[in-house]
Formats: sequence, C-alpha cells, structure tokens
Amino acid sequence: MQILARPSNQRAHAMNQRLEGYVNRLLRGFDRQREALGLRGRKGYYNDDTYEFEGGARDALRAKHYDKSLRLLWKAQEHAPWMSFRDCTHDEMQLLAMAEKSLTPVEKAARKRVNTQAFRDRLNACYTPQQKQAIVNILAMIGHGEAYAWMVSSELLNEVRSTGGRAAMTMQVLEEAKHFVVLRELLQAFDCPIPRMNAWEYLLLERTYKSKGLEKFFGMNVVVEGFALSLFGMMGALPELDILKLFHRDESRHTALPSNYLHEFPLSWWDKNNPAKRLRRLSLVLPALPIFMLIEADLAEIGIDSFDFGGSLARKILKLSDRVGFKLPLTQAQVTRLFNELFNAYCRATRSDFVRKDFLSAETTTGQEELDIEAEVFMLKTA
Ligand SMILES: [Fe+2]
Ligand SMILES: [Fe+2]
Repeated sequence: MQILARPSNQRAHAMNQRLEGYVNRLLRGFDRQREALGLRGRKGYYNDDTYEFEGGARDALRAKHYDKSLRLLWKAQEHAPWMSFRDCTHDEMQLLAMAEKSLTPVEKAARKRVNTQAFRDRLNACYTPQQKQAIVNILAMIGHGEAYAWMVSSELLNEVRSTGGRAAMTMQVLEEAKHFVVLRELLQAFDCPIPRMNAWEYLLLERTYKSKGLEKFFGMNVVVEGFALSLFGMMGALPELDILKLFHRDESRHTALPSNYLHEFPLSWWDKNNPAKRLRRLSLVLPALPIFMLIEADLAEIGIDSFDFGGSLARKILKLSDRVGFKLPLTQAQVTRLFNELFNAYCRATRSDFVRKDFLSAETTTGQEELDIEAEVFMLKTA
C-alpha cells in the first residue's frame, strides 16, 4: 500500500508548536508552583516525559503479579459451570468441548447434569443442614471481606508507585471483584440465610479501609487476606468446595504483594517504627481476636478447633508483618506469647478437661500444594 503525503502549511505548524510550548510551560509551571506552596498541583501520578508512572517501570513487580495473574486467570464458567457466569472466551469454550470429547459417556452425562439444582442436590447429599449453615456463616465472613478487599485495593491502586506496582494492583482489583461475585453465588446455592458482618469484622474492615496510604497494606494484604488465605487453605479440601483452592492461589499473590512492593519501595525507618503507627497496627489486630470465639461453634460443626485456626493464622501473619517491616509495639515472640495466653485462658474457662496447648504452633491448612504456597508467601521456611 502506498501512502501519499498531503501538503501542509509548515509556517502554521511551527506557530502551533510554539503556542503549545508556551501553554505547556505555563500550565506545568503553574502546577509546580502550587505544589511548592503545598497546594493541589498535578493530580495524575504519571510521568509523561519517561512514559512511566512515578516510580519507574519496576518490571519485576509486573512480572510477579500482573503476568502471573493473567497466567493463572481462572474462569467461573469452566470451574463452576452451574453458576450464571459466561466468562469463557470462544477459544476456551472450544478447548472445553475438545476435553469433553475424551470423557466417557457416564462422565459426559454427569457434566451435562451440572446445573444449579444438581449442585444444590450434591451439597445436600454431602452436608447436614447444620453443617451447611456453619459453612455459610464462615464463608459469608470472607464474602463481606471480599467486598472490602475490592474497595481497599481500588483505593490502593492510586497509592502505589511505578508502572509495575499499578499493573500488580490492577490485577488485585479484578480478582477481588471476581471473588466477591463468585463467592456470593456459591453461598446462595447453599440455600441458607447469609448472615451480616459481625461487629469485630466490621471494626477490622472499616478501620483497614480508613487506614492512610500504604498502611492499608498491613490491614488488608497482611491481616485480612492472611485470614482469607488460611480459611481457603483449610476449606478447599471440603466436598464440593474445591473452587476455593483457586481463591487460595489468588489470595497468595495478594498476600505476597506487600513484601514484593516494599522490596522495591521500602518503608522509611520512621514509617516502620513510628510509635503511633505501631500502636495502631496492634489496635487493628486485637479487636479481631473475639472473632475466633464467635466462630468457634461454626468451625466445631465442621470438625475444626477455632483456636487451632486462630493460632495457625496468627503465627503466619505475625511472621509476615515482621519481615515486611510493619512493626508492632511488642516483638513477634511477645505477641505470640500474648495470643497463646489469651487463647489458653479462654479455653480453660469454657472447656471441660482442657489441657494447655501451644495454639500458635498449630497448622490448619490442608493439602501439600496449599502448604507449599503458604510457606512461600509467609516466608515460613526462611529463618
Ligand atoms: Fe479476595
Ligand atoms: Fe485478595
């Protein structure tokens, strides 16, 4: 194809360039002046000179989070065909159809039967009504947490620096949206009343959402997502709930984001050690402890000791927050002892024949793959 150039007025072009250059200097100079005076200057945290967001490219972050998220992207239509989602592409549908061809006639018939009612029937066959309600009560807590994860991550998107950091955060926003809508439909299939958020969770999530700047990483990506990761790691082994293993994989990336991000943009000494921030972090975690008392009966219904779960979770997030630099007013060993004492005191008061236990060395995550993922993101294998 031959492209024919059109004649253009070079003099007018030069004048337009000069005019643009003048207005550009005026606009940007004005914004810089306002910034120097502490007023609102340029809002876009973007450097168009370098064609990067402020903070540079940081391709390592992009590769670890954005690329990996797209590589591991899962579709509800493939993994839970009974749901209302139609999110597979044409090519993915063709692959699924080809995979179906290799199924035996019995397997094919079973796959065809998978609609919402069939899934509901399977849940009824696997669980008693009490077990179903207990699972809904526990997962609803995570469901409400997903709503906040969606809101917090979309705010954090405008807090993180660099092109890689924003790309990583964008994938988290997308995945939290998916978690919220998919988990909602999963819970609705249980045909049980879905409870509201409990007061302790309300306090934790609202305060996390109100945290300033990168402190949101502590409340959300370390504490709340650590909680969700541990729950998915524990419940993905239950019958008909294997889709939770996919949630677990996503949450592991979200939990790893603060350490990967802060490796590129470390917290200042003051941000780590500021007594007010250290105190606020502890005050964010402590009111969450009654959650383990509140969900004890529901977890017991499915054979899990709530304080084993609490201990397993606390051990992991304490280690992670310490490594990442979110210091607390007490050392990791002191908080571990404090939590163990509190859990033991409560159990001694409420359980007959209770024998003292080291709850913080419990492990409630099941499945080798899930254990390996958690060992990596919580840095459990490093001394
Ligand atoms: Fe999530
Ligand atoms: Fe998440």
